Amino acid sequence: MTDKPQTAEPAWVASLSGLHDQVWQRLVRGVADRRAPARHPTLATVGLDGGAEARTVVLRAVDRSAGTLEIHTDALSGKVAELQRQPRAALHVWDSRVRLQMRLRVTVAFLDTANRWQRIPPASRLAYGGEPAPGAPLRSPHDYRETTDPERFLVLCCTLQELDVLHLGGGGHRRARFDRVDDFIGVWLAP
Ligand SMILES: Cc1cc2nc3c(=O)[nH]c(=O)nc-3n(C[C@H](O)[C@H](O)[C@H](O)COP(=O)(O)O)c2cc1C
Repeated sequence: MTDKPQTAEPAWVASLSGLHDQVWQRLVRGVADRRAPARHPTLATVGLDGGAEARTVVLRAVDRSAGTLEIHTDALSGKVAELQRQPRAALHVWDSRVRLQMRLRVTVAFLDTANRWQRIPPASRLAYGGEPAPGAPLRSPHDYRETTDPERFLVLCCTLQELDVLHLGGGGHRRARFDRVDDFIGVWLAP
């Protein structure tokens, strides 16, 4: 009987294309599986005061061939004003199951939401609305009223520009960057 070496690495870490494929597989899984780490990326933006802002979001859709990722939000949330001023943003996912960090630099556009509202389950519609607007100060938590408002439903379309991937391996770490300007061919980086 032979024991597997403890440092056995998955085959996909050996090549740039393998790493790149693995990232998209994880992102696709994030959309389909509520428990997958990529279900809840961190979205980082440039704050209106120039400082960094970060928050958890839900990954709603991905399209590998277009290199796009979709997030839904309230049009009055702070991130929207930030993205209107600076559409360059970042998404971050740490998938501990495969020991993979994914850092995506993206440009964000606001999509036309016509016809999409009907597909949002009633319970989820409460995420788009509410009085007063997100982030407004309240004298008491009871001063907030839940409402739904289709006009407040906004789809953020994030177009991938650069992907920085880090795999933590038992036998050594691997890091690579994939850029849209190079058709995401990829280059190895020192980890
Ligand atoms: C698990 C989880 C999932 C979330 N998903 C979303 C989301 O998909 N879209 C969103 O706008 N906010 C989502 N939020 C709330 C944001 O993290 C944030 O609190 C809110 O959008 C206000 O952020 P902003 O003021 O920076 O815009 C989520 C929070 C958690 C904890």
